[in-house]
Amino acid sequence: MSLPFRHLTSTKQLTRSDTDAILTAAADMEKVIVKGGTDLLKGKILASLFYEPSTRTRLSFETAMHRLGGRVITADGLQFSSLYKGESIEDTMMVVGQYADIIAMRHPEQGSADRAAAVSPVPFINAGDGPGQHPTQALLDMFTILKERGTLDGIHITMVGDLKFGRTVHSLSFLLGLYKDVSFTLVSPKELKMPEKVTSFYKEKNITFTEVESIEEGLDADVLYMTRVQKERFTDSSEYERLKLKYILKASHVKGRDITVLHPLPRVGEIVTDVDQLTNAAYFRQVKNGVATRMALLAMLLGKL
Ligand code: CP
Repeated sequence: MSLPFRHLTSTKQLTRSDTDAILTAAADMEKVIVKGGTDLLKGKILASLFYEPSTRTRLSFETAMHRLGGRVITADGLQFSSLYKGESIEDTMMVVGQYADIIAMRHPEQGSADRAAAVSPVPFINAGDGPGQHPTQALLDMFTILKERGTLDGIHITMVGDLKFGRTVHSLSFLLGLYKDVSFTLVSPKELKMPEKVTSFYKEKNITFTEVESIEEGLDADVLYMTRVQKERFTDSSEYERLKLKYILKASHVKGRDITVLHPLPRVGEIVTDVDQLTNAAYFRQVKNGVATRMALLAMLLGKL
C-alpha cells in the first residue's frame, strides 16, 4: 500500500490504516532480513543527517537502507555542516535533495522537521526534532507492542519519567490513541508532566488517562514505557540533577507480573541492569524492531511497496 503523504514529520499525520500498513510491511521486512536482504532500493541513496547525537536511530536507518540494497550518505554534528556557518535548514534541504532520493534528519529544534519537509525536493523523514516528535520511534514501539502483546487494541500503557521533553512518548501517544480502548497511566514529577498538546488529544479522543507520581501506581498495566530525563533540554543543571533519577525500575517491580518493559534508550540508570534478565524486558528486542520498521517506511515512501 502506498502512503497518502510524501514526508513523515509527525505521528499526527498517520491514520490507523496507514499504521497497520506500515506494521504489516515491517513484519514482511523481518523475513527479508532473515534471508539476508534485498535489492528493492538498489540505486537509491538515503541522506542520513544527524545534527543531534544518536546511536539507534541513525544506525538503524543506515542498516535498513543497506538491507534494502540502497546506499547512504551522511552528515553528523552541527559543527561539521554548513548549518554551523549559518546556512538555513531550508537551503540545506534544497542542497541535499540534489544528491539523495530520501532524507532522514535529526535536529535539536522543535519544528525543524516541518520546515525541512516544506521545501524538501525528495521524501523527508523526521528522525527527532528536539522535544517535538520522533515518529519512527513510535512506529517501532507500536511494532514491538504488537509483537510482545499480540494486539494494540485495549492496551493499557504506563509512561514513566520525562513526559514533558520526551518526544517518544508524545509521538507514541498520538499513534496508540488511534486504537480502541487504549488507556494511559502517566508517571512523572510535576515539573515533567505530559504537555497539554498531548493531554488535550487524550481528552478530544475520550481516552482514559491518569496522572500519578509513583511507579508502583503504574504497575497494573500491559506495557511499562520507561524514559530518560532529557539532560540536554534543561537550562538549569541543578534542576536536572534533582530530577534525573526520581524513578528507578528494579527487577522486584516487574518480576512475576504480566507487564512488558519498553524504553526507547539510551538509559542512564532508570532501569537497573538486573531487569535485563527478566522476560518482561523487551527493550533490546525493541531496538531490533527498528530496522524492519524503518525498512518498511523507506520502501513505502520511495514507492516500492
Ligand atoms: N531511541 C533513540 O532515538 O535513540 P538514539 O538517540 O540513540 O537514536
